[in-house]
Amino acid sequence: MTIKPLTVLGIESSCDETAVAVVRRDAAGKVEVLSSVIHSQVVAHAEYGGVVPEIAARSHVETIDDLAARALAEAGDITLDAIAATAGPGLIGGVMVGLSFAKGFALARNLPLIPVNHLEGHALSARLTEDVRFPFLLLLVSGGHCQLLSVKDVGDYERLGTTIDDAAGEAFDKIAKVLGLGYPGGPALEACARMGDATRFTLPRALLGRKDCDFSFSGLKTAAAKVAHEEVRTEQDRADLCASVQAAITRQLVERSDRAMKGFKEQNNVTGPDFVVAGGVAANTAIRNALKETSAKNGFTFVAPPLKYCTDNAAMIALAGLEHYQKQGTMPRDGHADMAALARPRWPLDEARSKSAPIHKSQGRKGAKA
Ligand code: KG4
Ligand code: ZN
Repeated sequence: MTIKPLTVLGIESSCDETAVAVVRRDAAGKVEVLSSVIHSQVVAHAEYGGVVPEIAARSHVETIDDLAARALAEAGDITLDAIAATAGPGLIGGVMVGLSFAKGFALARNLPLIPVNHLEGHALSARLTEDVRFPFLLLLVSGGHCQLLSVKDVGDYERLGTTIDDAAGEAFDKIAKVLGLGYPGGPALEACARMGDATRFTLPRALLGRKDCDFSFSGLKTAAAKVAHEEVRTEQDRADLCASVQAAITRQLVERSDRAMKGFKEQNNVTGPDFVVAGGVAANTAIRNALKETSAKNGFTFVAPPLKYCTDNAAMIALAGLEHYQKQGTMPRDGHADMAALARPRWPLDEARSKSAPIHKSQGRKGAKA
């Protein structure tokens, strides 16, 4: 099949990173990131110990123009074919900023707008740099998401498991906050854990009776907070608790991934499929190494994209839009911006399954945010 070479501008603003990128994919399927600029808001949120949605939305408004100008300048002499923007899931104020900007830009240039699911961006991110073939298994593990997905094709995803409460990165951040380690907590907790004894504290194991691939971290968070208040007196105590927490999170990620790999192999007759890990938590060395070992044990090839494409970025959004465009051959409204696209705070990748087997009941939170 010959595919149309395309150059797409991507925009990402669903959490605390404003990002714009230009990505090209040629007729042979070779991907080139022509520019990828990111403005991280970590400093603005640090004093609150987490992302404040209003601060995030305002910061996106203030920075997006400049970032787009920089991304276009860095990409050089290009002709854009389309604009891809995150339309959800995420913090609604931020998503609206990026999507509105994209609509204005698309209108001004008379280009099609492709609304992209942020999770799909993560799902395809490994294809920015690696020759990852469908189907593959993905563990998306960040501050906002924790799920296992079977990635069958562009636009064809099966969610094998997701968190029923917090995301893994959120657990790292919240426990680090209780221990006074600052924000974001993941890297600080990992550093502190290096001096610790992971066997010192026994922490609860979540969803032990279940045989599925869902995650839960809230019990661990409560238990760790209790130990922190009652037993952590010295630097060594703190390091031991960090090491124990990291080991508990690692174990849960490994157990569910192992289960998902076995299920994936039963469903798909592929030799040496890829196991891709994406999201900020993939930066954790202990977690990475453990997942590498589990992949090898199950005959999977372990793939971890470079960290800059693992954490939130716009190159993955551009690629997701581009791959949809290339797969369809044409846009539904070629030459016109899709002004009807709505910003969605929640948007499961696998909508059919999330309706037939919802993680949350209709009251309260509808569908895991992660
Ligand atoms: O993908 P990301 O940049 O943003 C989203 O949440 O979408 O992920 C950030 C998360 C934070 O929760 C951060 O604490 C966690 O990834 N993280 C880590 C490490 N580096 C970042 N968690 C554990 N160990 C690390 N080394
Ligand atoms: Zn993300």
